[in-house]
Amino acid sequence: MILVTGGAGFIGANFVLDWLAQTDESIINLDALTYAGNLDNLSSLEGDARHLFVHGDISDTTLLSNLLATHQPRAVLNFAAESHVDRSILGPEDFIQTNIVGTFKLLETVRAHWNNLPADAKKNFRFLHVSTDEVYGSLTKDEPAFTETHRYEPNSPYSASKAASDHLVRSYHHTYGLPVLTTNCSNNYGPYHFPEKLIPLMIVNALAGKPLPVYGDGQQIRDWLYVKDHCSAIRRVLEAGISGEVYNVGGWNEKPNLDIVHTVCSLLDELRPKTDRQSYNAQITYVTDRPGHDRRYAIDASKIERELGWKPAETFETGIRKTVMWYLDNQPWVANVQSGNYREWLTKNYAERSGTST
Ligand code: NAD
Ligand code: DAU
Repeated sequence: MILVTGGAGFIGANFVLDWLAQTDESIINLDALTYAGNLDNLSSLEGDARHLFVHGDISDTTLLSNLLATHQPRAVLNFAAESHVDRSILGPEDFIQTNIVGTFKLLETVRAHWNNLPADAKKNFRFLHVSTDEVYGSLTKDEPAFTETHRYEPNSPYSASKAASDHLVRSYHHTYGLPVLTTNCSNNYGPYHFPEKLIPLMIVNALAGKPLPVYGDGQQIRDWLYVKDHCSAIRRVLEAGISGEVYNVGGWNEKPNLDIVHTVCSLLDELRPKTDRQSYNAQITYVTDRPGHDRRYAIDASKIERELGWKPAETFETGIRKTVMWYLDNQPWVANVQSGNYREWLTKNYAERSGTST
């Protein structure tokens, strides 16, 4: 079996669901169930003996060593993190705690376990760390996309904490020989995406008749990948990646934020037209920019394509249509995540941003 951390969050839950749809190998899923963790994401696995959910923190070394000793997983995949840049700007401490201290505790516990494994199990064991393109910093319009050897230049408390975790993972390979793999992926989108992030926030706000808050001029560029393609990349890296190597994952799909918002609006105009026949585009509102906002991310995914034969299955057009349809078909899921805590976050992040409509 394998052990994943953070498997009740957006990417982790998609990974767990896809894994169990592709193989019969069991999963232990360790998740602290922060505001971003949601067992509803995994409700289709109820009664499935291949999925063992454990409510706990990656910093809990006693719990972790017990899990490792009892279940002897052949791999640990670390998805657990605080992941939202705006939250890291308004309150960085949780990011330091989970992304840096938590990853350190996890590495230490895994190292102690791995050290005592029999030779064969030790050789085949893997620790896969799921990271982000944001560690590389921001690109100008004409700079080439990030390769695995791009310098680290994180600009937000979130990306700095992820950069620190990447460095720790690297050091555990270099110093102790722990067989690690690191993936640095671009922006994901798809089912179960918490509606604090751009794409699900736009869908949810549009349907609720609320403003669609575009930061600054909306010309910041992100490189979008459908979440199931990220999951297939992680599976492939786990299967065939070389210990100690880093693999960038992306969809060669750079788009300015405003184009993304227009695409979401056009799909909603087609799939859920407003009764007054106005376009959802009329709800776009330009608001105060994110402090230190990175202008452009772009991933050069040639290494994983060339060395591991991985390619995304979805284009942006197919992936975004599936995503919008998923939100339309899963309104109870959306209603459930819009708790008091979620509404408090919206007030905290958006109330201070003055806005102008288009
Ligand atoms: P998410 O915020 O949706 O989910 C994070 C999960 O981790 C939640 O289930 C949460 O409960 C859990 N968690 C948080 N702190 C924990 C702790 N201390 N112990 C155990 N569990 C804890 O995040 P996501 O978008 O699914 O991202 C998953 C990983 O992928 C993160 O490491 C993130 O940095 C990375 N990543 C995300 C993206 C993206 O576009 N979302 C892109 C590239 C990389
Ligand atoms: O690049 C990978 C990263 O992508 C991951 O490491 C992060 O975990 C993930 O959250 C994501 O970070 P971003 O900051 O790029 O994602 P977010 O959805 O928050 O914002 C995407 C872009 O949209 C960004 O340029 C900010 C802008 N934005 C976002 C929100 C929430 C808006 O214009 N308005 C908004 O209300």
